[in-house]
Amino acid sequence: MACFMSHSSLSHFLKKLEEAGELRRIKSPVATELQITELADREMKSPGGGKALLFEQPTVDGTVSKFPLAINTMGSRCRMAMALGRESVDDLAKQLEFLMKAKPPQSFRDGVTLLRQGIDLLHARPRMVKDAPCHEVIHYFDNNKNNFSLHDLPILKCWPQDGGRFITLPTVYTKDPDTGVRNVGMYRMQVYDSATTGMHWQIHKVGARHGKRYYERGEPMPVAVALGGDPVLTLAATAPLPDGIDEILFAGFARKRSVDLVKCLTVPLEVPAESDFIIEGFVHPGETRPEGPFGDHTGFYTPVDHYPVFHVTAITHRREAIYPATIVGVPPMEDFYIGEASVRIFLPIFKMNFPEIVDMALPAEGVFHNLVFVSIRKQYPWQAFKIMHGLWGMGQMMFSKYIIIVDEDCDVQNTSEVLFRLCANTDPQRDSTITKNPSDSLDHAPTLANMGSHMGFDATRKLPGEGYTRGWPDLVKMDPAIKQWADQFVR
Ligand SMILES: Cc1cc2nc3c(=O)[nH]c(=O)nc-3n(C[C@H](O)[C@H](O)[C@H](O)COP(=O)(O)O)c2cc1C
Repeated sequence: MACFMSHSSLSHFLKKLEEAGELRRIKSPVATELQITELADREMKSPGGGKALLFEQPTVDGTVSKFPLAINTMGSRCRMAMALGRESVDDLAKQLEFLMKAKPPQSFRDGVTLLRQGIDLLHARPRMVKDAPCHEVIHYFDNNKNNFSLHDLPILKCWPQDGGRFITLPTVYTKDPDTGVRNVGMYRMQVYDSATTGMHWQIHKVGARHGKRYYERGEPMPVAVALGGDPVLTLAATAPLPDGIDEILFAGFARKRSVDLVKCLTVPLEVPAESDFIIEGFVHPGETRPEGPFGDHTGFYTPVDHYPVFHVTAITHRREAIYPATIVGVPPMEDFYIGEASVRIFLPIFKMNFPEIVDMALPAEGVFHNLVFVSIRKQYPWQAFKIMHGLWGMGQMMFSKYIIIVDEDCDVQNTSEVLFRLCANTDPQRDSTITKNPSDSLDHAPTLANMGSHMGFDATRKLPGEGYTRGWPDLVKMDPAIKQWADQFVR
């Protein structure tokens, strides 16, 4: 029987991490300007992702903040599973697979519908509540009369050339003004002054689509940002859920407990009641400001670009609030484990569309979607190319710069095994394809932003039907009986 526990707060999650020996407290003052990054980066790059860190006295411009700062809380396979309240991420993936198999869907859309029904079936709908821990302390930002500002939060300046301080682990709540459908995404926020930030939703993201509709209608866009709370909500915000699937339903399903929502105080939105901080405000049509540079997931600085501006109207928080943060940069970083969990959880959806898919991996070196390995059960000529094109057409898989397809007997979780197959099994001209597709806004390599080319490699064995008539050789392998003998011999 798998052990399961959802988290009622970020501090509950940290307590569980500490009990499991997965958390290190840093009691002495450490600066939010660069110093926390350096310590967190060393931790994230240590074997298996190191430990989560709780800075009890983060300093802002030399003054100790009222709030402790937690970082790298999901930066290992074990902590990611603990964030989901499960023994392993695959546990949740298996549940989704079960749901998918309950009534075999005919298309991706069917699968999405089924996913939605499944979540409903498990009674994971959110619950509206009146009293919320996130409202224990309230600061309204009217006429600058409040004596609380964004500068009271221990917000990091992550890297030397960053354009300022950035909120790096925010979950951003918006609604489609036409349908009222909610979206939760994670978009970094650069602090401009005590009550204003940037809102870095990239052009392909749902927040940007909602924003565009508000701008077209000429209406101010209500936005709420939650920090902390149950970490499952952080995963849900970053997960590449199809536009229209409610992240809150998904989170409720994943944690087997409805998410309690409470109405915001100054914007018509609902947010998780168990959050540590809520920042409420508006984005005004057409208003943008230079955002960046920022030391990014790519391992390089993303340059200054224009992004919408977020005007804060209120900040509310728990009395004992903990500020959550992450850093991104040269891999591996905490985000590798977040991305890996998404792939494991959504593998059943990919398999539903492409039953020949056996496994998928996004290695850390590819910083999310730059490099994708897929193993397939190959049946017919050029099947590998069908998979590449299919994946490039699915949601955020459109950003995958390189896709390498291998046979089912290759372990895609082992990068060196995939590279061996790539080198051995391909004739570069015959087995590669280059196509045009949107590219990740963060990718500095394409000549023009947001547009680029993608490359696929078919590293599977070649069939006679593909014009290969020389007879594909067998992989060198020892006789199983000899292996068994050797096992006993070595023992
Ligand atoms: C730590 C972290 C930071 C992120 N920052 C951004 C960001 O600043 N802008 C952005 O568009 N996506 C960012 N993402 C990726 C999005 O959260 C992700 O694409 C998500 O699926 C977007 O949600 P949406 O499809 O509902 O818009 C970030 C992801 C992580 C893990």
